[in-house]
Amino acid sequence: MKAVILAGGSGTRLYPVTQNVNKHLLPIYNKPMIYYPISLAMLIGIRDIIFVITPQDEEIYRKLFVHLGKIGLKVDYVIQEKPRGLAEGLILVREKVKKEPIFYLLGDNILFGHGLSEILKEAKQFVEEKKGAYVFGYYVPDPERFGVVEFDKEGKVLSIEEKPKKPKSNYAIIGIYFFDERATDFALEVKPSKRGELEITSVLEEYLKEQTLRVKLLGRGFAWFDAGTHESFLEAGEFVYTIEKKTGLMIGCIEEIAYRNGWINADTLLSIAKVMSKTYYGEYLLSLVSKRCLG
Ligand code: G1P
Repeated sequence: MKAVILAGGSGTRLYPVTQNVNKHLLPIYNKPMIYYPISLAMLIGIRDIIFVITPQDEEIYRKLFVHLGKIGLKVDYVIQEKPRGLAEGLILVREKVKKEPIFYLLGDNILFGHGLSEILKEAKQFVEEKKGAYVFGYYVPDPERFGVVEFDKEGKVLSIEEKPKKPKSNYAIIGIYFFDERATDFALEVKPSKRGELEITSVLEEYLKEQTLRVKLLGRGFAWFDAGTHESFLEAGEFVYTIEKKTGLMIGCIEEIAYRNGWINADTLLSIAKVMSKTYYGEYLLSLVSKRCLG
């Protein structure tokens, strides 16, 4: 399975901050936003990652890709000329993923919770073995801002709607999706929505029609942020700060995961840490080699 991370878009909900800078490279506390979705792919053992980026960000992303290469990832990218919607990413990566299932992540989504790796691994295995799509529902007070899933009493999915004016439930579909290899075919058939975008929820509806859409609800033990607005951006940063400070362990530290996965050795980790020696991030990487940490 390959991961596809969407890092394009215009970031208008974060203007003026993102008028000249790509949203996904902004810091959520002590690391770029994009590290968080990258870390989720790494946690479930995915080394192949394709990024969807804008033409104006190509150069800066190339620098990031060099670093990702050093920590054992195989990176590729496609250019999205204009933001035409999340489902377009599936069309753009079609040739590169060929007939493989996809772990599809929005670059501004941050998810944290106990046992998350196991839940993601389970979803990956499900899609690889049983086919279909596997997504996650999360209770929110403002469902009209998201893709919303409706259930019947038995928990069976009845509908999926993108940013409905009158949401049928309080469950948002978060921007972390597992698709079987047919997602890119479904995306080709998607027609632009009323807001003129190729919606990812339209792809989910195709799976729903053939009853191969699985929605797992994430309960109270999870924190999810779509860090694409000023408020949620700040909240996500504060959350990461609080958890890291309290536990002494980092969230979304891609070098740590590469090291724990055995993709890089202690020497490589130390050389990366040296460059960052003026920060706690650097000190933390150093401590991974010197201390035996079970976190
Ligand atoms: C997108 C999706 C929406 C999903 C949300 C999660 O919305 O279209 O279905 O619930 O991401 O972050 P957007 O952030 O593009 O408004």
